[in-house]
Amino acid sequence: MDPRPLFLMTDPSCFEVSYQINPWMQPTAWRPEDLVTAQRASSQLRAALQSAGARIETVGAVRGLPDLVFPANAAVVLDGKVLLARFRHPERQGEEAIFRSVFARLKARGLVDEIIDLPDGTLQEGAGDAIWDADRGQFWVGFGPRSSRSSVAAIRRAFGREVVALELASDRFYHLDTCFCPLAGGAVLYYPDAFTADAQAVIRERLPRAQRIEASAEEAQAFCVNAVNLDAEVIMARAPASLKAKLQADGYRLTEIDLDPFILSGGAAYCMTLRLDRTSQPHHAILAAE
Ligand code: ARG
Repeated sequence: MDPRPLFLMTDPSCFEVSYQINPWMQPTAWRPEDLVTAQRASSQLRAALQSAGARIETVGAVRGLPDLVFPANAAVVLDGKVLLARFRHPERQGEEAIFRSVFARLKARGLVDEIIDLPDGTLQEGAGDAIWDADRGQFWVGFGPRSSRSSVAAIRRAFGREVVALELASDRFYHLDTCFCPLAGGAVLYYPDAFTADAQAVIRERLPRAQRIEASAEEAQAFCVNAVNLDAEVIMARAPASLKAKLQADGYRLTEIDLDPFILSGGAAYCMTLRLDRTSQPHHAILAAE
């Protein structure tokens, strides 16, 4: 088996901001030349992942489905199981059938094993709202603006792993991945104000002070919490100096990419990718098996 991390990304040729389903999206601000910048940004993200050691599978672009460029929302994937997403907004529901056939093809090639559906009536927007924490062997699951509360139990049932539910409090940070990012080694970068008081208490209870890296409003609004982490490498949108200092002090290396056209849609590095090879086995068990 290829030991490199495996990500899904989408060809951005049909990307645009043509509707508004979150407060960042301003269709009137979108100019056709933004597509050129978006394509460049997407290639840079791809190159950064590859130089961090990853391989990438690519989903073809589909006209009329601009947000297909955010495959983090397509499914929750762990141990070869794929729990397909169900989107809240009609604007994105057309992506469900596309991603279903993408995963069927990945299954035929042996890259994933099993495709599972959510219970009727449950909304769940994929890894954007269900983030695997490899150090703790658990999911952190966001609900409220997009995914329904019932998705917490559905994810627990589908994967048989511990799930910690966090209610999101703001329409600007509408997916968990916009405000919460577990990092290798056990630290978590997060933006406290995006969470309800109860969820903030759960985070403080679960994470000792030394493992909590709090993002400021400025850092969260720059979409820097929406980062991809591979070991010490953290790939994100252009970061304020304050955040660089915090992460470097903790031993992380930063790769910044100008993702402005995607931020205009309310997304950045993490949501432009979907990790396909995560397993619930602890790292040391994997090393021992090699
Ligand atoms: N325009 C997209 C939406 O509102 C952006 C999705 C970003 N994805 C994410 N996982 N944060 O659905």
